[in-house]
Amino acid sequence: MERYAELPKFLRRPLWRIWHNYLVSHDEALDVKFMNYGFCGMNGEFRPLNLKLEDENERYCINLYHHDVQKIPVENKDVLEVGCGRGGGASYISRYLNTKSYIGLDLSSKAIKFCNEKYNIPGLSFIRGKAEDLPFEDERFDAVVNVESSRCYANMAGFLNEVYRTLKPGGHLLFSDMRTEEGNAVLKTQFLEAGFTIESEKNILRNVVAALEIDSDRRIRLAQEKTPKFLHNSCAEFSGAKGSRRFQLFADGTIQYYSYVLQKV
Ligand SMILES: C[S@@+](CC[C@H](N)C(=O)[O-])C[C@H]1O[C@@H](n2cnc3c(N)ncnc32)[C@H](O)[C@@H]1O
Repeated sequence: MERYAELPKFLRRPLWRIWHNYLVSHDEALDVKFMNYGFCGMNGEFRPLNLKLEDENERYCINLYHHDVQKIPVENKDVLEVGCGRGGGASYISRYLNTKSYIGLDLSSKAIKFCNEKYNIPGLSFIRGKAEDLPFEDERFDAVVNVESSRCYANMAGFLNEVYRTLKPGGHLLFSDMRTEEGNAVLKTQFLEAGFTIESEKNILRNVVAALEIDSDRRIRLAQEKTPKFLHNSCAEFSGAKGSRRFQLFADGTIQYYSYVLQKV
């Protein structure tokens, strides 16, 4: 377990699953609200957010959401987030950016249960659902947010068609996730085939790596404080902390990280 990242794939997968199951079944004890790798603004391109004390710990995970959402006005808008996880981003956007309504949707019933018990914010609600089969009528939302979730989807084209259907004309999909360079070329084709116009595309890998560098100690500490010893390494791997295989794949550029603003015209 000490060299988790160097274990063969057939061992890493079950260990990863154990950690993931542990995470979702120890909700109260863990109190983890984000499951993304974060974003650090560089060269003055991103003004430090003025956060409340209670949000300070998760600044870099919040930054990733803020970076994506700041590109269009969401105040007083109806927003859906697909793959909201444990709702930290949904909570941040509803509280700080004053959306009219914000629905967080996730495949995991445990994540949705956690969100429903954790947050009590006017206009914010959570629902279990599948990205590829959104339980909403046509043209319901002004914006759809999708952060570090899409690479899990069995049917990316199905997801994009559903987002397109449920967005109002002129509405936006605010998207970020990791891909290889080849994977990003496929992704772009998928966006265009679904009917979206690409308003902006940005490779934010260096911002993600910088965030992980700064946030690694907190991620490792969280693993050590909140999980039994036998899970510490797989937990650190899951978190992308320095020394993990995931961190290395980012640092050497094998996996890139992209952020898009897409519009339904
Ligand atoms: C890495 S987590 C990111 C969560 C959140 N966006 C964040 O940044 O903290 C990915 C999330 O996508 C969800 N997910 C995976 N496949 C999904 C699907 N087909 N439909 C909806 N949610 C899905 C997972 O349950 C998980 O909560």
